[in-house]
Amino acid sequence: MNPDIPLQMLGGITAREFLRDYWQKKPLLVRQAISDFESPISADELAGLALEEEVESRLVLEHGERPWELRRGPFEEDAFADLPERDWTLLVQAVDQFVPEVAELLQNFRFLPSWRIDDVMISFATPGGGVGPHFDNYDVFLLQGQGHRRWKIGQMCDADSPMLEHADLRILANFEQTDEWVLEPGDMLYLPPRLAHYGTAEDDCMTYSVGFRAPSAAEVLTHFTDFLSQFLPDEERYSDAGTAPASDPHQIQRDSLDRLKALLNEHMGDERLLMTWFGQFMTEPKYPELVAGTELSEEELLEQIENGAMLVRNLSARLAWSEVGEDLVLFASGQSRLLSASLRELLKLICSADVLHMENLGQWLADDEGRNLVLELVKQGSLEFADE
Ligand code: SIN
Ligand code: CO
Repeated sequence: MNPDIPLQMLGGITAREFLRDYWQKKPLLVRQAISDFESPISADELAGLALEEEVESRLVLEHGERPWELRRGPFEEDAFADLPERDWTLLVQAVDQFVPEVAELLQNFRFLPSWRIDDVMISFATPGGGVGPHFDNYDVFLLQGQGHRRWKIGQMCDADSPMLEHADLRILANFEQTDEWVLEPGDMLYLPPRLAHYGTAEDDCMTYSVGFRAPSAAEVLTHFTDFLSQFLPDEERYSDAGTAPASDPHQIQRDSLDRLKALLNEHMGDERLLMTWFGQFMTEPKYPELVAGTELSEEELLEQIENGAMLVRNLSARLAWSEVGEDLVLFASGQSRLLSASLRELLKLICSADVLHMENLGQWLADDEGRNLVLELVKQGSLEFADE
């Protein structure tokens, strides 16, 4: 993708300008990011999803049994029947993993790395409905899907920002408004992490939140060191051969710290392992149980594809690729596989193609390594046959 082409999704600025001036820094309102946008899912269908066992959903009632009452799904069929006329909202997580048309919307965000995208949450709200003034720790694009929503934005927040006392929701005690807009279908508001925002429905409205994934520093350290330690033998230990005699046996001297730092640097600085861990971590599925593989032999795979079968990415799978030294590595739903450099175009194809079939896959199926890769991805569940 050419980063210097003006994009309608970004209100006519280029990806390069967006990344330089707005991404992670300041909000951007885009009128008609998608013109004539029609929500690919109706409010009724969204409510239907909230009944499903594997779907995460929440209902927030501003004037419920107590202020800002939170009810968690999955809901019973009659859960929506007794709700008040107004001031409530239903939020459904990761709709892109259940509705292919919602997943397709993510094609519009190709100006950002796909592995940074977390999910598409969709909310339906009655007039006055919202989740209160709050901030999130991740970037979000709020795309208006149906009806109208008034968005107010405020101050930059952090962990010390005062919150209302509320067991389940993080609602800001103070909201210092700086701007406000009413969004209609196709309009989009980008918000950087930690910016206070407050959305309320003007009428029955649906809002799509495209949220991003960024591990906290604490997660990076705990998960990477956990990963690293699998490769370290027990006999590799703190060692102090050649140490100077201690002037006081109770003192931990500075040179011990230097030895420790050298031990840490040696392992923490291993770029191969760091890349492997990072790719695996960033492609971990939100719902791993939905990436279920199938047993399949090489002959069966070839036969099916030769007979016209098509492979698609499992909606819950996450794919990315990278270079590690001379080799390539494919990350698929939390796993990684080292591959030779000759497979570069196949990796790009697998990550980006809507469907894989005889026509685009053909030449690769004749290659041992390529064929085996496709087979393993089907067995692992990241790829699946289109009609399954
Ligand atoms: C909503 O869609 O009501 C909430 C989205 C958000 O503020 O993050
Ligand atoms: Co938010």
